[in-house]
Amino acid sequence: EKSLKERAATKGLIYGAAASHDNLISDSEFAKVFIQQSGMMVPELEFKWSSGNKRLRPDQNSFDFKAADWMIEFSQKNDLLFRGHTLVWHHALPNWFEEQVNRQNAELLLTKHIQTVVGRYVGKVHSWDVVNEAIAPSHNIFNGLRKTPWLDLLGTDYIDLAFRLAAQADPSALLVYNDFGLDYDNSKDEAKRQAVLSLLEGLKSKGTPIHALGIQAHLSGDSHSFNPQKFRDFLSNVASLDLKILITEMDVKDQNLPFDTAMRDRTIAAAYEDYLSVALDEKAVIAVLTWGLSDKYTWLNEFQPRKDKTPVRPLPLDAQMQYKLAWNAIARAFDHA
Ligand code: G3I
Repeated sequence: EKSLKERAATKGLIYGAAASHDNLISDSEFAKVFIQQSGMMVPELEFKWSSGNKRLRPDQNSFDFKAADWMIEFSQKNDLLFRGHTLVWHHALPNWFEEQVNRQNAELLLTKHIQTVVGRYVGKVHSWDVVNEAIAPSHNIFNGLRKTPWLDLLGTDYIDLAFRLAAQADPSALLVYNDFGLDYDNSKDEAKRQAVLSLLEGLKSKGTPIHALGIQAHLSGDSHSFNPQKFRDFLSNVASLDLKILITEMDVKDQNLPFDTAMRDRTIAAAYEDYLSVALDEKAVIAVLTWGLSDKYTWLNEFQPRKDKTPVRPLPLDAQMQYKLAWNAIARAFDHA
């Protein structure tokens, strides 16, 4: 049976997935399936400033590249393209950040961070999530932007600045703005789509070196408000700004779906297929990545567990690394692209 990466490649597309250093090292069966199925890897934690036991920035003046280097080497050894995730985000900031970073030193800190991290991996990174999740949820609007430490410290120009620094450090990588909540036909997602479009328009008109939008696509299996036409229009509006599009963190939440796993899997698979068949119709879409590959390792067990305490099933492979209906759905979406 042809793998997801092979099916994608046949259509000039990329299939990839998120993985973490610890899981790839401790679970050789997972690592093997990962290499088999994915043509691209995105590190779930290792390139963030500080997340869990991974601390790229142990303090203000130093870097710990051990895990990040390992991820890059793993992907090079196994012919995986690589996505850098992420340079500027309001989450996963180290403990020292709040205490030590101020309006006097923030710009220099960000400059050194981007120059050092992006510079270290020049030629090895397909695309960088330069800025992640900068649009405000509706309750927290400031010029359409989320109130974050970066906004407080540097003002609204921090986004433009980050992209310029990344472009200087690696002129060949695809530079991406990445966000979530863009998927459904409700007022919240509609507002977010509009806000993202106006951010992208603003950046393009300023000459900011931005090349693509990353649509995270954390879908909900119990949502009935996917509207193909609205989503299609959004993708085409993004494409008309001369931007590529990547589906960067796809998974389907089954937190509120019934217990019956066969039923759950059918619903989840349908959500994948409905969404991807529209997405892959748009020529600007170049890649699809899932946020994990196997249900054995997914953020949703921790962050959005089921009430009945049974494990969630959001990804293409089950916890035993066997294909699920979601795998078939993604495969078909690539085959029909
Ligand atoms: O490794 C420690 C472990 O030692 C400790 O016992 C445990 C206690 O909670 O925490 C573990 O670290 C956690 C880590 O995930 C690994 O599970 C961190 O606390 C937790 O904050 C971290 O969460 C990650 C989160 O981003 C924040 O970095 C999730 O795994 C990761 O899936 C999630 O990914 C984000 C994308 O980057 C951006 N888009 C949304 C997406 C989902 O939230």
